[in-house]
Amino acid sequence: MSDKKLVFSGVQPTGNLHLGNYLGAIKNFVSLQKKMNCMYCVVDLHAITTFQNPKDLRKNILETTAGFLASGLDAEKSIIFNQSSVSGHAELAWILNCVSRIGWLNRMTQFKDKAGKDKEKASVGLYIYPNLMAADILLYKATHVPVGADQKQHLELSRDIAQKFNNDFQKENFFPLPEPLIQKNISRVMSLRDGTKKMSKSEESDYSRINLKDNADEIVKKIKKAKTDSKPIPENERELKDRPEALNLINIYADTIEENLEFVLSEMAGKDFSHLKSKLADILIEKILPIGKSIKELTNDSSFLEKILKKGTEKASIKAEENLKKIREIVGLL
Ligand code: TRP
Repeated sequence: MSDKKLVFSGVQPTGNLHLGNYLGAIKNFVSLQKKMNCMYCVVDLHAITTFQNPKDLRKNILETTAGFLASGLDAEKSIIFNQSSVSGHAELAWILNCVSRIGWLNRMTQFKDKAGKDKEKASVGLYIYPNLMAADILLYKATHVPVGADQKQHLELSRDIAQKFNNDFQKENFFPLPEPLIQKNISRVMSLRDGTKKMSKSEESDYSRINLKDNADEIVKKIKKAKTDSKPIPENERELKDRPEALNLINIYADTIEENLEFVLSEMAGKDFSHLKSKLADILIEKILPIGKSIKELTNDSSFLEKILKKGTEKASIKAEENLKKIREIVGLL
């Protein structure tokens, strides 16, 4: 078995990038690129599992690419590309559709959440979305996958699919079993209006999230209005157990200053949340504003972004074809 480490992760181009995407994923991508070979993919085929306006989709693919670059991903170090431009993702997804089991997919909690009450009306794509995610990873034999906690179940499914493929075709260790890299500190950034819900671009109120393109005024206003409770900042984490909004703000602050929760609690215990909020607004302005500015500049130059994606696609395609050739052979396709 090859012992080469390869990181793969994907972000869906479904709208404005926000602080949850940055702290929960992209910031981690940037630190991984310093130590390992990495591939970062704008997963446009995943995005269309729910209807996307074609014009918006095109814009969002470029904007997500801009978000990657503005946050510090380097197209010379990492392979940055969009999923649909390497057709091997769709091809391997089909093969894996035939390996994966209906019973496995039926356990996926994200499908249940996203499909809502009327499952019959959800697209088939949404249902088999985790198989496509497995294809993304296995197409390159990636070994490490940085994801948020909400994707852990999908990653476990990818491992099951890899294992079943290896067993069915008696090719022990052909696909490595991908390991999740879930950040310790903050694997979920929650809504600023409801600490039990993930920060999301689909939540109606813009006050629920900090968008990477927000200006200083918006950041200050949103943090000021963020829901908390009337109690001061406690001494230890235990006392935050039933205070999701308080925990979320402290987590966001800790992660943005790159410290752990304990450190922030020891610094701020007994203080009011207004104290934390003003510090948080300051640090977000310092860290997020330049990223937003750079996203805006980069999105003005779509041909530059297209060039970045094209270069990434070329590199990714070579790896994909190499593996696909073996996969077709293993399966018995001519
Ligand atoms: N499903 C992931 C999400 O919504 C995105 C994704 C698609 C992904 N393919 C992937 C993440 C492969 C990691 C690896 O967040």
